[in-house]
Amino acid sequence: MGPVGLCIVALVVISITHWFYGWRNPRCNGKLPPGSMGMPLLGETLQFFAPNSSSDIPPFIKKRMERFGPIFRTSLVGRPVIISTDPDLSYFVFQKEGKLFQSWYPDTFTEIFGRQNVGSLHGFMYKYLKNMVLNLFGPESLKKMLPEVEQEACRNLNRWSSQESVELKDATASLIFDLTAKKLISYDPEKSSENLRENFVAFIQGLISFPLNIPGTAYHKCMQGRKKAMKMLKSMLQERRAKPRKQQSDFFDFVLEELAKEDTILTEAIALDLMFVLLFASFETTSLAITMATKFLLEHPLVLKALTEENEAILRKRENPNSGLTWKEYKSMTFTFQFINETVRLTNIVPAIFRKALKEINYKGYTIPAGWAVMVCPPSIHLNPATYKDPLDFNPWRWERMEFNGASKHFMAFGGGMRFCVGTDFTKVQMAVFLHCLATKYRWRVIKGGNIVRTPGLQFPNGFHVQISEKNESKEEPKINSI
Ligand code: HEM
Repeated sequence: MGPVGLCIVALVVISITHWFYGWRNPRCNGKLPPGSMGMPLLGETLQFFAPNSSSDIPPFIKKRMERFGPIFRTSLVGRPVIISTDPDLSYFVFQKEGKLFQSWYPDTFTEIFGRQNVGSLHGFMYKYLKNMVLNLFGPESLKKMLPEVEQEACRNLNRWSSQESVELKDATASLIFDLTAKKLISYDPEKSSENLRENFVAFIQGLISFPLNIPGTAYHKCMQGRKKAMKMLKSMLQERRAKPRKQQSDFFDFVLEELAKEDTILTEAIALDLMFVLLFASFETTSLAITMATKFLLEHPLVLKALTEENEAILRKRENPNSGLTWKEYKSMTFTFQFINETVRLTNIVPAIFRKALKEINYKGYTIPAGWAVMVCPPSIHLNPATYKDPLDFNPWRWERMEFNGASKHFMAFGGGMRFCVGTDFTKVQMAVFLHCLATKYRWRVIKGGNIVRTPGLQFPNGFHVQISEKNESKEEPKINSI
């Protein structure tokens, strides 16, 4: 090789070394939190997604907390990220939404949920959509919805009790999805030629993944599902437009009324993206929470006893035990709400909440450069022994001494600040009513499955198959496999 060749090789080596050094030591005006940026481009993405079956803080996070402290840096899906396991910083991030931080999710989220989904919108349009959703799932709507939620929970439980076994995650997902779809778009799966919910499967795996849209990848499967679901939603909206109803009865009617206004800021595309997000957000999260709740009840007989007693007492106090659950009775379920809180604390359905720093931010001696992503990690907050004694123990009674409505520095299962989950009360109604029907009328046992995997989103790889029987009915003992 001649001197020119040697010079070129030397230049290439120097450039790569320089780039590699820059990758590992990103520029910052102050002191970056400690941490490792991992491999060039790939960062620490693979380690972050490595499956684990623990209910503890994910090993990826725990190892780094031990090594670097509560605030550290990394690189995920091609982005530099500051991970916060620190309650103060996490709370600060939520409180400063729109000023210092802004909702930001990896590209995969935006592509799957739509570029105009509520999580990616800001300012005026965001507030407008949020009010729309709050009207739909606020206390007044929920009060009206209560009898229907109870009827559906009881009807489904009754049907499942006639089966040898039911896969609870899928069955509850279908229950919640059908109810939400009925409320939003009057969708009736029995009258539809296509199954809308089918298009929402495999979403959890696809959401935080590499955006490789080629057959075989989780991302590709998700995108195909989105396409089909959006096509169905669009044609349903068009059908409704062609045959409007006299009285506004669901979200479609409301959207059409809004779109007809001259000065509206709503567009059909935004309304459809919102519909898609709401359908997904409601059934996937709540069904995971109900499945875990049912599993916790089996594993903790004293908890089951307390929950059953509270709910049976409601029936005993009634003049007619067969009359439906009232709002007052629902509000009186103190232990059931403690139980729900403990379930979502330990379940950690949302393992990561993302934001982007709008400007350079200095916090606790560290600098977060403008444009960097910040990931708040709810499991590290919910499993902190300084706040929750024996954090891995399932103990609903711990909530007797704790505030549990809304978000705090120590509880962020439903997020916090301006973007606090709009579906929280809806989820609580669904869970409490389901548990009320289950605990007062049925008993259940595991047939198979029930093991969990986190990637880091929660999954039941073998499902959770249970046999449900009416309390006063005896069924042949099934062969029980361990959970
Ligand atoms: C156990 C059930 C649920 C959990 C654990 C949960 C969790 C969360 C969390 C952590 C956030 C905050 C995300 C962020 O700050 O970026 C959020 C936001 C949101 N949730 Fe939920 N959620 C649940 C149920 C629901 C339901 C039933 C609905 C639909 C009715 C829903 C709709 C939404 C929407 C639309 C947002 C975005 C709000 C915004 O950007 O302001 N969620 N949820």
